[in-house]
Amino acid sequence: MTLSLFEDAALYQARREELCPGATLLRGFAAPNEAAIFEALACIVTQAPFRHLITPGGFRMSVAMTNCGSYGWVSDRAGYRYDAIDPESNKPWPRMPDVFLNLAQAAAANGGFDDFEPDVCLVNRYEAGARLSLHQDKNERGFSAPIVSVSLGIPAVFLWGGSRREDKAVRIPLTHGDVMVWGGPARLRYHGILPVKEGYHPLSGVHRINLTFRKAI
Ligand code: SIN
Ligand code: FE2
Repeated sequence: MTLSLFEDAALYQARREELCPGATLLRGFAAPNEAAIFEALACIVTQAPFRHLITPGGFRMSVAMTNCGSYGWVSDRAGYRYDAIDPESNKPWPRMPDVFLNLAQAAAANGGFDDFEPDVCLVNRYEAGARLSLHQDKNERGFSAPIVSVSLGIPAVFLWGGSRREDKAVRIPLTHGDVMVWGGPARLRYHGILPVKEGYHPLSGVHRINLTFRKAI
């Protein structure tokens, strides 16, 4: 039998970096569960394939997205929102697999946030050149729950900004298995991803995959 995530978490020799009060980087935290994560992801994308959403301003996002959980984050000409129905299939999003939920909860607890109950996992897929400009996660109904963000596959540089868009952002290289947790005083910090460089990872091929767990409703 494999160790549960909680036992893994207990054994985990945290290469832990506190970025600021409320924000923690857990290096390699997701790596022990990589096989189960990619197996669950393959099942999700057969039901809800990756797609490039259109921003309210009419631009096609370079990052391809899908979701699992009770809600999904979507964008179109009408705006950004959470929806219980996948607009492509008109069906509910795939349920959040246990391996995702357990990982998100264990990471949140390691970052100082107990009782995290995410109802959304936004799955972002980056190919070379894809980027996410500086933004705040603020489409959620409340901000008391943290954000848990899991990096998989090829590396990327995370921009970790301040509470104002113009605040200088630090660059944090993220690699396969790294997990960022931010909440409390850091919950509304600006963040983004620099254009991803070409690469190859045995589990994700030419892609970077990011799982972002949130409590939307
Ligand atoms: C996001 O901010 O939604 C994703 C960040 C990432 O890909 O690491
Ligand atoms: Fe975000």
